[in-house]
Amino acid sequence: MKTKIINGLKLSAKIREDLKNKVNQLIDKNITPGLAVIIVGNNQASQIYVRNKVKACNEVGISSIEEAYSHDISENELIKNIHRLNVDEKINGILVQLPLPSHIDTSKIIEAIDPKKDVDGFHVINAGLLMTGKPMFLPCTPYGIIKLLESENINIRGSEAVIVGASNIVGKPIAMILLQAGATVTICNSKTKNLKEHTQRADILIVATGKPNIVDGTMIKKGAILIDVGINRDNQNKICGDINFDSVQGIAGAITPVPGGVGPMTIAMLLANTVKSAENKIKI
Ligand code: GUN
Repeated sequence: MKTKIINGLKLSAKIREDLKNKVNQLIDKNITPGLAVIIVGNNQASQIYVRNKVKACNEVGISSIEEAYSHDISENELIKNIHRLNVDEKINGILVQLPLPSHIDTSKIIEAIDPKKDVDGFHVINAGLLMTGKPMFLPCTPYGIIKLLESENINIRGSEAVIVGASNIVGKPIAMILLQAGATVTICNSKTKNLKEHTQRADILIVATGKPNIVDGTMIKKGAILIDVGINRDNQNKICGDINFDSVQGIAGAITPVPGGVGPMTIAMLLANTVKSAENKIKI
């Protein structure tokens, strides 16, 4: 069996092209979707992510502002700035890049964002809406994963879906989305006793741990669909995912590569959520 490589770059480019048209329709109605991206401190990876997000906005016609704050900004000061953006008519989406410095309570900051502008889908209101099957904004990475599965016509209903990693950003929300779509879902975490026992059962295996090689060819079922969310550096400083890519060739049915799989989809779905927020404003 030849393992198919799922091309996230190609699908994300198509989504961004479609979004350009939607943005133009909004601009014709005198509405330019606006995204505010907040970054605190000088985490290098975060700086790269934020730069890419702002650049992607500009390319589809979304107006974006970046607000960078010093690592020692107080929680209250940060919340004040979010409140200002909450009432700014030109801003449809507010994103606070994570992680935040340790003196700041991340959940307090996320809860300060107006849920209608929470394009990351992290606010408890949005997490609750997703949990109860009425999502307003899907978190961007899980949203991107679903789009990838749909584009490959992967059957979710009745499938065994196994997720490795139980974060609020990826693991938990993708579990809810797959459950809603009719999969039988297992969420593994760092305390899971026999990981292989679970991963071998998976028709769809999603790995989001930040640990290179946590899954290899001996741990999967023949024909399994593998979604690799990890972005790591290997011994030669080369970007790699959480799945040992070479070892699953010929066993997996399909796999998302790193880079070029889930990563570009995350950004595309952030843009989609920002456009949706601007559209929601006209509908209300
Ligand atoms: N840090 C890592 N992933 C994300 C994400 O999707 N959104 C935000 N805001 N921060 C992140």
